[in-house]
Amino acid sequence: MCGIVGYIGNQAAVPILMDGLRSLEYRGYDSAGVAVYDQAVEMIKVKGRLVNLEERLLATPIQGSVGIGHTRWATHGAPSDVNSHPHRDEETDIVLVHNGIIENYLSLKAELMEEGYVFASETDTEVAVHLIASYYRETKDLLDAVLLAIDRIQGSYAFGVFCKDEPDTIIAARKDSPLVVGLGTGENFIASDIPAILKHTRDVYFLEDGEVAVVRKNSVQLMDNLKKPIERPVFHVTWDIHAAEKGGYDHFMLKEIYEQPKVIRDTLLGRIGKDSTEVQLDGIRLDKETMEKINKVYIVACGTAYYAGSVGKMLLEAQARVPVVADVASEFRYRDPILDENTLMIVVSQSGETADTLAALRMAKKAGARVLGVVNVVGSTIAREADDVFYTCAGPEIAVASTKAYSAQLVAMYLLSMKIGQVLGKIGDEEFAVLRDALLELPEKVERVLENAHLVEDLARKNLHMKNVFYIGRGLDYAAAMEGALKIKEVAYLHAESYPAGELKHGPIALIEEGSLLMGLVGQEALLEKTISNIKEVKARGANVMAIAMEGNEEIRLAVDDAIFVPRTHPNFTTLLVNIPQQLFAYHIACGLGRDVDKPRNLAKSVTVE
Ligand code: F6R
Repeated sequence: MCGIVGYIGNQAAVPILMDGLRSLEYRGYDSAGVAVYDQAVEMIKVKGRLVNLEERLLATPIQGSVGIGHTRWATHGAPSDVNSHPHRDEETDIVLVHNGIIENYLSLKAELMEEGYVFASETDTEVAVHLIASYYRETKDLLDAVLLAIDRIQGSYAFGVFCKDEPDTIIAARKDSPLVVGLGTGENFIASDIPAILKHTRDVYFLEDGEVAVVRKNSVQLMDNLKKPIERPVFHVTWDIHAAEKGGYDHFMLKEIYEQPKVIRDTLLGRIGKDSTEVQLDGIRLDKETMEKINKVYIVACGTAYYAGSVGKMLLEAQARVPVVADVASEFRYRDPILDENTLMIVVSQSGETADTLAALRMAKKAGARVLGVVNVVGSTIAREADDVFYTCAGPEIAVASTKAYSAQLVAMYLLSMKIGQVLGKIGDEEFAVLRDALLELPEKVERVLENAHLVEDLARKNLHMKNVFYIGRGLDYAAAMEGALKIKEVAYLHAESYPAGELKHGPIALIEEGSLLMGLVGQEALLEKTISNIKEVKARGANVMAIAMEGNEEIRLAVDDAIFVPRTHPNFTTLLVNIPQQLFAYHIACGLGRDVDKPRNLAKSVTVE
């Protein structure tokens, strides 16, 4: 993770770098730092949130019109001033920011220490700056030194580097960590992500793995690691910076929860409408001939995206009658899964940069499988490398805990399962029309759930001091339970578990005691009675019990302490509606406990390390 930014031009670099870091803070917020050049290299870096760096810069301003900045999510070495980036080689005055992990840093460090280099920090990154410095001493050329160093470095990196003797140049290099180069007039930028530079330019190059950029104020040269020039069309960003601002809400998370009706409409738009007789997925190869050759589907993702994928698995199997395995990417990549040209892999990722998901994608492609990416960030690495892309239209998701992107991923799963089911002749016209109508009603039904948000807030207040919480459900409700439990862990820092409702009595029920909360999800009406029995088993053991159920299932009230009802919909689509109160519940518990809702401790939005 971590966010990096760089500026070279005629303006003061520090405000531009700080602005960029503000929009990259979602990538990590353990520490932050900047380095600029004006006669000499000056650097300030401090532990903690960006605000600490702002205070230090106010007290001790530094100036220059070239600079690099970093916001850190600690991997090697605890959050501390000295472990913060930029890292510096004192003698050559080379400074560097890094996102990624240098896997062979211990052997490189030993080698450099033999040469007499002294290390100030415990980070893997410091190895890179001294390694570049040792080559710089030989070559007297920063580009050559960086190229020689990256040839030795194993692992992942996005680097931004400059030095005292060549202050008209920033060198950027990328492998397995995202990096964009922003193109201005008389000024240029580098950043981990587009929002960091969007105030200044909409024209960018995405660096690919193994590529290097030589960034000067009036030019940008892209090249491979052998200095072979690379020609690439400029990518023009069309979305708006306001999409990445809070707009009057207390937190991004709440704003994003309320954006869901629009996000769902946007994700449906152009793909299905009230007169549609099929799902339109232009440019995505899911035709009959292609699909008939597919004998298995993997859905691979991490975290929330994996939970959306788990819904996709159940629906694809039910509707298209193809065997589907949903797997966590960090496990999948180290198993020996059966992959060949008859496999379809669907990778789901909001950021499109998650390291494990990307590795799974590459593994599948290498084995000849087709990969369909379900991705939110346009132009991200997964979007670029997948054979086909289904873009979810959630817009920038800033809160670290995912809400609206998850709903958009669910809609993607709904549409894909309908499309494949129809292509394979498993969904007839009548069934399609029923599903279509139900799908198109979802945005309005989410609005109705949001109108009752105050009821969820009251229940959150009532349960503020619970010790732990168990989410249970059957089938699609179990998929929703996993997401509900994750949300409360992430933002409220409470111990939460999710279980298939029938599984609790096989062990975990021993944990139930007074002070425990059970959240029973009852969206799957066909399994209503079964889940109610499981809920009663827990209530009998002293837990406080809540349920989220469909309107009309009033009998639930007899089994629980409190119930939240959501509008009825087709059984395939209940997850989306059941999940909205879960998001609000987690949000209000987190607020009530005074948590840092948008930037929960220990987390980062985009997990670009494995
Ligand atoms: C949870 C959350 C994470 C992400 C996971 C995958 O709220 O946001 O669990 O879902 O890190 O990220 P993406 O979707 O960017 O691949």
